[in-house]
Amino acid sequence: MGKLVICDHPMIQHKLTFIRDVNTNTKDFRELVNEVATLMTYELTRDVPLVSVPVETPVVHAEGKIISGRMLGLIPILRAGLGMLDGILMLLPAAKVGHVGLFRDPHTLQPVEYYVKLPTDVQERELIVIDPMLATGGSAIAAIDVLKKRGCTQIKMMNLIAAPEGVKAVREAHPDVDIYVAALDEKLDEHGYIVPGLGDAGDRLYGTK
Ligand code: PRP
Ligand code: URA
Repeated sequence: MGKLVICDHPMIQHKLTFIRDVNTNTKDFRELVNEVATLMTYELTRDVPLVSVPVETPVVHAEGKIISGRMLGLIPILRAGLGMLDGILMLLPAAKVGHVGLFRDPHTLQPVEYYVKLPTDVQERELIVIDPMLATGGSAIAAIDVLKKRGCTQIKMMNLIAAPEGVKAVREAHPDVDIYVAALDEKLDEHGYIVPGLGDAGDRLYGTK
């Protein structure tokens, strides 16, 4: 079974509280979401392999370590996933980016696919699927399905907030995928919104509503 990692660093929890706050304006919300995404990337890359390289310091010849060249891909789920992208690219600037467009039908809560554009070598890359919200899990499962159909095998998921129902659904559908969240919330309400959550992530990021 894939890991469920709760990134509970104090700085992440601090910023997440302001992200949740209904009085946080669009500009601050956007900045905070990207900042938390950067901090979560630090946690998510904790286990990347290092290789030894010689380094000449002003004092001696020594041995240092650098991250071994890895092929990464970031897959934001449109549209709210875009809100985390720049924050992740701050730490992983060489990653390629693929887009999966899905929206959740407000009545059925089922994901509807409307756009897919992936790097041509996507199946060779280690992928991070990005979305602020993991609610029923339908959108995440559908996005991972799209990637697996293209032959992708190394997939992680990064969400700001997850509901237990969504985590369970993704782990059942895709047990090989590690899930990184800043918070695991209490439940879904009758409209499929995460409680306490942050409301509609896309609307808060883009000021639509
Ligand atoms: C939100 C969110 C996820 C999805 C989560 O997107 O960004 O993609 O809902 O819900 P689920 O786990 O129940 O599928 P939304 O459908 O509102 O689209 P948007 O990003 O375009 O606003
Ligand atoms: N999508 C959101 O943006 N927020 C939720 O709480 C659930 C789904």
